[in-house]
Amino acid sequence: MTTVLYPGSFDPIHNGHVEIVETASRLFDRVVVATLHNPQKGTALFDLAERRELIEASLAHLHNVEVTSFASLVVDLAKKLDASFIVKGLRAVSDFESELQMAQTNTTISGVDTLFIPSASNHSFLASKLIREIARFGGDVTAMVPPPVAERLQARFATSNEETPR
Ligand code: PNS
Repeated sequence: MTTVLYPGSFDPIHNGHVEIVETASRLFDRVVVATLHNPQKGTALFDLAERRELIEASLAHLHNVEVTSFASLVVDLAKKLDASFIVKGLRAVSDFESELQMAQTNTTISGVDTLFIPSASNHSFLASKLIREIARFGGDVTAMVPPPVAERLQARFATSNEETPR
């Protein structure tokens, strides 16, 4: 049985992430999606429990996918899960440079290899950071995220959008 690990912040999960998991779930026996707090990204919008819940709701149609959260190196989790590969999505050349460096570093320190799956062109602009920003100001994110995420974003910012600017 081939297990792969798809790690990320997923704050929140969007349609581009879903597409990568769908592809991985067709290619491999078991896909573990793992969310962590990435200290390089500052304060998160959703805590890890909420992110897990939203990931699970967004991937409920895929039966060989599991969701977890972690607070260790990605490679340590990959070994713990007995994953054959780490899977990463690539949106554009700009992703490639940093992802290649991470993949090479991870192989060097652990022997765990990374497989890249390219995004479809209609998802290549998606970024959680932009989605958070649009939702914060009451914009429409329904074309970019699964329905449970759109609902949660709307609920999260419903009150703050009623505030008058100071
Ligand atoms: O871009 P993301 O979604 O925030 O990616 C997060 C993560 C951890 C998957 C990415 O930064 C990565 O692969 N990092 C490798 C280093 C590592 O293992 N970090 C974990 C502890 S900070």
